[in-house]
Amino acid sequence: MKVIVPLVILLSCAALVAACCSVPVRDSVSETPAATPVPTAIPGSNDPFAQNARLGRGINLANALEAPAEGVWGVTLEEEYFQIVKDAGFDAVRIPIRWSGYADDTPPYTLDPTFFERVDWAVEQALSRDMLVVINIHNYEKLVREPAEHKDRFLAIWAQIAEHYQDYPDDLLFEILNEPNGTLDDLWNDLLVEALDVIRQTNPRRNVVIGPVEWNNVDALPLLELPEDDRHIIVTVHYYNPFPFTHQGAEWVSDSYEWMGTTWGSEADKQAVVADFDRVAAWAEAHDRPIYVGEFGAYRKADQEDRVLWTDFVARQAEAHGMSWAYWEFCSSFGAYDTMWGAWYEDLLGALIPAE
Ligand code: BGC
Repeated sequence: MKVIVPLVILLSCAALVAACCSVPVRDSVSETPAATPVPTAIPGSNDPFAQNARLGRGINLANALEAPAEGVWGVTLEEEYFQIVKDAGFDAVRIPIRWSGYADDTPPYTLDPTFFERVDWAVEQALSRDMLVVINIHNYEKLVREPAEHKDRFLAIWAQIAEHYQDYPDDLLFEILNEPNGTLDDLWNDLLVEALDVIRQTNPRRNVVIGPVEWNNVDALPLLELPEDDRHIIVTVHYYNPFPFTHQGAEWVSDSYEWMGTTWGSEADKQAVVADFDRVAAWAEAHDRPIYVGEFGAYRKADQEDRVLWTDFVARQAEAHGMSWAYWEFCSSFGAYDTMWGAWYEDLLGALIPAE
């Protein structure tokens, strides 16, 4: 089980990064071309399988808009980040968002228009570069702790997001909630239907990303119940197995210091990953749903060579099973990019986007 202790994670000391990870290669950042206007939605079926294939290889632009305030976790989204991600060969970005921090506490729970402008800007940076973009509700901790008290607010937030983006192109996807867990586990199958109903009032055919309980764990997929007749759904799972390897030394996970030194890469390690992906693929086939591995990554305290090996293996497993994916994450403590050096960690990038 993941125990989140949010603030401690992030403020990465560059010297520490350089010391414990491979030193990034300084690289020239390509000049940011002027963004082209966002195309408007076009008619079509918006088939979720076709769109999932286009989601392809993605990356989470994380620790920015899902922080208590953008910047306090060390990341402020910049226009050039979108170009850097595009130039590296990614097809899509996932942008975690703490909408709950920008909504009134009382009905009608109005979302801050200035924050909407900020998210519009981010969404348009991706779309105008021909990248798909997934936005979600992330870090709504009170909903997890007090679901009954926060359900109406959660649904009202979705009503506003859905209405606001209803005319945006299909390449914008909504994800109902990052990693439902804890008290939400028993309520999730009902809550997701209610949220979907709200979204469908204004977005009848937008593909909506939904994952299982227990932090979107692959093992919880059999618990997920989706409305049969809604086919504009892409199912997401997060993959951090084996957890003692990917989260060794993670400050927000209790006792994770005991896992320091956990290695990865034996034949048995690989077979365990294959078995997980086979199970997910069997579920997907039986339920006729496409799968998006919306987060996977190993924290920087793991051995760098093992991280690279694991990242490559997981990404290729997902692809071999016809799944799209988004690496967790761009430039923080799991990061594949170092903003101070202005460079990718070439070994991690090579694992994500192998040379042709
Ligand atoms: C959480 C992050 C965490 C990551 C890996 C994400 O869903 O929001 O805080 O670093 O999972 O554990």
